[in-house]
Amino acid sequence: MKAALLAFALFGLLAFASSTVHFQEDFDDSWESRWVYSTHDDASGNAGKFAHTAGKYFNDAEKDKGIQTSQDARFYKLSAKFPKFTNKDKPLVIQYSVKHEQSQDCGGAYIKVGPGPLDQEKFEGETKYNVMFGPDVCGSTKRVHFILNYKGENHLIKREVRPETDIYTHLYTAVLFPNQTYEIRIDNEVKQSGSLIEDWDLLAPKQIPDPALSKPADWVDEEYIDDPEAKKPEDWDNTPKQIADPEAKKPEDWDDELDGEWEAPMIANPDYQGEWQAPRVKNPAYKGPWVHPLIDNPDYVADDQIYVFENEYVGFELWQVKTGTIFDHILITDDLAEAEAFATGYFAEQQKGEKAAFEKQEEERNKAEEEERKKRDAETQEADDDDDDDDDEDDVADDHHGHDHEDL
Ligand SMILES: *[C@@H]1O[C@H](CO)[C@@H](O)[C@H](O)[C@H]1NC(C)=O
Repeated sequence: MKAALLAFALFGLLAFASSTVHFQEDFDDSWESRWVYSTHDDASGNAGKFAHTAGKYFNDAEKDKGIQTSQDARFYKLSAKFPKFTNKDKPLVIQYSVKHEQSQDCGGAYIKVGPGPLDQEKFEGETKYNVMFGPDVCGSTKRVHFILNYKGENHLIKREVRPETDIYTHLYTAVLFPNQTYEIRIDNEVKQSGSLIEDWDLLAPKQIPDPALSKPADWVDEEYIDDPEAKKPEDWDNTPKQIADPEAKKPEDWDDELDGEWEAPMIANPDYQGEWQAPRVKNPAYKGPWVHPLIDNPDYVADDQIYVFENEYVGFELWQVKTGTIFDHILITDDLAEAEAFATGYFAEQQKGEKAAFEKQEEERNKAEEEERKKRDAETQEADDDDDDDDDEDDVADDHHGHDHEDL
């Protein structure tokens, strides 16, 4: 029993020892010593600053402090460096939390992880990154971006993943596995997963239509033809398209001398059969649709290292119209279990507590409003009663004008 426990503990230690947290940021009071603002938008006056706050409702006033976009219609450019690492042969897990207190209508909330060297003061949209991940909302466009840099170019995932758009904190997790698969999780629930090769257009296609071949000129791709045996019946055309209206009568006052010879108006012939068409039959020469034969693409290069990146910084590079988004709990690790432990541990508690806090605030606000309304109603009622008294006096005095002047 003891031995088993010891083995278990040792295994646990080993498992722990083999995982590495490359970066973790929970935005305590010393956060500014680790993060650097870009000066890129200083000249234009469009640079936004983050506020350090847990927001208007939270589970824990200290633990839930993150950084919040605080000035509308600004660029937010901020980055932090960490010791360089490559995720070769290891998973790359990027996790962080997003809370749209403002109920987001237009603004990015994604995170970037990139290589060195980075001049943090110059960090901006064009700065090279490896992975860009996270929610982006503008009007009806709502998606979770997952962009990978491959050989110098940024490629967006081809799958659509809807972000959360409510006012609570949500946890976004991106994972790249060494077997070239990925996962996108929101609140630890897998929202999308698959292959880096299939779900991004990173590699040239493995096979292409053989450029040396084209559809033979004599290829028959007409599946049905007019029956060559069929013949138009001899009497087909004997039925004219129009006939003189048999119902029409020559008007009584018709004068042949003056009006000319009367003719009944023409109408469509109900017996007319239309133009003759041969019935359609299957074409005996039909070969089916021509299929362009494929060959191996000479430009295709297999790559089992797509997922490998050399990482040295994490940053926010955002434009927000309506601000109030709080970012927190950034974790970059090679161990998904570590990210999961946070998700099912404190984060689950935070989400529950924050929701309860918000609902309590709403309840109190409603109650206060209700009381305020009652008080106002009571005052209006009293004022009305006074008015009634005045009216009575007016009626008695029957001197509206004089009375009004007195009031003034
Ligand atoms: C890839 O690796 C992950 C993590 O080890 C595993 O969960 C997944 O099943 C693997 N996928 C394939 C297609 O091998």
